[in-house]
Amino acid sequence: MKNEILSRLPASFPWRGNIHHFDTIGSTNTKAKEMAAAGAPHGTVLIADSQTGGRGRMGRSFHSPAGTGIYLSVILRPNCPAQELMHLTCAVAVAAADGIEAATGLRPGIKWTNDLVFGRQKLGGILTELSVNTTGAVEFAVVGIGINCGQKAGDFPPEIENIATSLRLSTGKQVDRAHVTAQILLALEKMCGQLGDAQAMLNRYRKDCITIGQEISVVRGDEIRHGKALDVDTAGALVVEFSDGHIENVASGEVSVRGMYGYV
Ligand code: BTN
Repeated sequence: MKNEILSRLPASFPWRGNIHHFDTIGSTNTKAKEMAAAGAPHGTVLIADSQTGGRGRMGRSFHSPAGTGIYLSVILRPNCPAQELMHLTCAVAVAAADGIEAATGLRPGIKWTNDLVFGRQKLGGILTELSVNTTGAVEFAVVGIGINCGQKAGDFPPEIENIATSLRLSTGKQVDRAHVTAQILLALEKMCGQLGDAQAMLNRYRKDCITIGQEISVVRGDEIRHGKALDVDTAGALVVEFSDGHIENVASGEVSVRGMYGYV
């Protein structure tokens, strides 16, 4: 798989020499954090054919069977304080959408904050993890991307079969995982050069974000609140008008969109 990806990347691609492939691994994000702590450079890429402990946002697992998905993490070393990287997950989601569109012609939507979706179903997700030092500077960021690629109807386990889709199901075509991976890496590397312009990046995110304008519910612990998503703010938080009329910028928690993932 590594050689297939390399053959689809230009010779000048700056991360070419730092691509690590694993047949199976617990989590590419966990391994990337270990490698980053041990000094691995900006642009170190980890790709696995399968994960036994793939992780998602809010402590969830990410189903990562062999041979059908893309499971990749990249170590980034942006030279800035953590509060200037609030938009990183949004920027990575847009870059992943760019890569998928370049490879397949299909542009996924983004369900705030970190789910890539097609129609009402989840195509993949982003998990961004930061290591910040005592002065608030970012030592490294690990951006993890998981994409369902080759699954056919009936391939997903029962707990996600109504929620999940794949590039194959969405496009109706066989998917070249190495080509999609290469296009995502190209888009990520380009995104790194544009991270400084957070507002331009967030404008792109707003165009892809299917949550804006939808009836939603926000779940935090035992509390569920209903409202309407109005916008994404200048830090990437979701601006919500709750049913009691007050408006709040929601930066964390689970947001369900009415009509998606079985939420009625
Ligand atoms: C989510 O759905 O909340 C995010 C899923 C992110 C999954 C990817 S797969 C590669 C990387 N390694 C992980 O353990 N997680 C991310």
